[in-house]
Amino acid sequence: MTELLTSTADAAAPPRIDADWWRQATVYQIYPRSFADANGDGIGDLPGITSRVDYLARLGVDAVWLSPFYPSALADGGYDVDDYRNVDPRLGTLADFDAMIAALHAAGIRLIVDIVPNHSSDRHEWFRQALASPKGSPERDRYVFRDGLGANGELPPADWTSMFGGPAWEPVGDGQWYLHLFAPEQPDFNWRNKEVREDFLTTLRFWSDRGVDGFRVDVAHALAKHLPEDLPSEAELQAMDRATGTHLLWDRDEVHDIYADWRAVFDEYDPPRIAVAEAWVNPPSRRARYASASGLGQAFNFDLLEADFDAAAFRGIIVDNLDQAAASGSSTTWVFSNHDVVRHATRYGLPPNGDRPRVHNRAWLLSGGAEPALDAAAGLRRARAATLLMLALPGSAYLYQGEELGLGEVAAIPAESRQDPTFFRSPGVDVGRDGCRVPIPWTAAGDSFGFGTADAHLPQPEWFGALSVEAQSEDPSSTLNLYREALALRHRLQTDESLTWADSAEEVLHFRRANGWEAVANFGTTAVPLPAGEVLLASGPIDAAALPPETTVWIKAGS
Ligand code: BGC
Repeated sequence: MTELLTSTADAAAPPRIDADWWRQATVYQIYPRSFADANGDGIGDLPGITSRVDYLARLGVDAVWLSPFYPSALADGGYDVDDYRNVDPRLGTLADFDAMIAALHAAGIRLIVDIVPNHSSDRHEWFRQALASPKGSPERDRYVFRDGLGANGELPPADWTSMFGGPAWEPVGDGQWYLHLFAPEQPDFNWRNKEVREDFLTTLRFWSDRGVDGFRVDVAHALAKHLPEDLPSEAELQAMDRATGTHLLWDRDEVHDIYADWRAVFDEYDPPRIAVAEAWVNPPSRRARYASASGLGQAFNFDLLEADFDAAAFRGIIVDNLDQAAASGSSTTWVFSNHDVVRHATRYGLPPNGDRPRVHNRAWLLSGGAEPALDAAAGLRRARAATLLMLALPGSAYLYQGEELGLGEVAAIPAESRQDPTFFRSPGVDVGRDGCRVPIPWTAAGDSFGFGTADAHLPQPEWFGALSVEAQSEDPSSTLNLYREALALRHRLQTDESLTWADSAEEVLHFRRANGWEAVANFGTTAVPLPAGEVLLASGPIDAAALPPETTVWIKAGS
């Protein structure tokens, strides 16, 4: 297969030190508190990651995206940052960070860190100063403060709702209120404030100087806000057009002035640091602004993550995003799972019901996984097929820790163990995101399935053992080995960022890359003829002539 499939990189070669390394990279998201616990306190840590670099190298990822590891009270899983230029002492020290990045780089793996610029935590030094300072002070100007309504400011400035439920304005006791689009412990920064702008440039340089290769930018579309004297109501806000760059809170055009400054910092480095925007914008064409080379450079496309397992939906999304990427000069990103949504092996095993992926099949989550019945085998079969299709696409692929084990969502988490603020702020409506954040199983049995020596900070279910790294490592048909083989092949086969569609039945997607690497996915419920060519890899069992339902194969085109 090697001679026909003219590769741009050899699997054994060290990573190319080129500025375009990110364009078709496979990036593995680590949610650090749930990955590996080296010091036995029940919480994953940086030395835990360092101890698992061999695993990541064997898996074959090009880069790690590390979710927040900064000091935090964990009001929102670390997305409430106390200090942007330090490490949470429960996770380690700056020296541990340096050791981790050195080990990753030595293994040829790059590191992208999460940066959270829309809000700090309420324990951040600046927010403490804001609370201790009077109305109208420079300290308060770093955040979004407003006078309350009513004779003494006892009523909120507006009836806005936060993203996690409940009000978005919080009183501070002197007639003023502050804005928090997320939890009350996450006050929004005022990005019109020069010190805020400067401080984030300092933070970008701080981590870039320590060797990080890039940044994942949290809620990148919320930083620029325009709050008029008379605030609109929540209903009026909801009705405002989000497509024109003029909404008061989301995706305002001037947010890109901020990212132009960031780009100048990224370009101080060789190779330039990269960034990927988390920007839930609509219409999708607005992503191009975030993905532009004069801005962050790349933006998440969550379209496959939001789609059902359906050939027509997948095809439309693939065509659309490759077009968008070409138009913006960026490459697209593919993702099925992350720390905010129900894991895709579970989503695909539940009847679609129109719920968003974060609460996919809310009824199932609220019932603790009882109703409706989950078809776990079908979910995993579809997840494997979808992932193998995705990994053959041009663009970068983002994987979330544990998906390579075929892990499903943990629905049965007792209320007293839950941590996500959504659970507490939306009682009975939303159980939150803890179910995809349960520490991953390394061993089939034993203390916290090899995660650490103490009980894991979120309880792991019994069924995790059978899906552990240990249980799958030597099994050639395991999901873990499917990912390993797929990533090794992908590394070797990755070619230019184009594809050509082949004719296929309605339920089948079949495309070819420039070097003769083909992917054929059967989304249907009956077997279809297998196209000619040598089979390189399959997401499930196949026979010589037929491609079974809900299965993807990679083939080398017949001559
Ligand atoms: C992150 C979430 C977080 C939110 C607020 C996001 O989109 O991915 O996990 O809760 O931003 O920071």
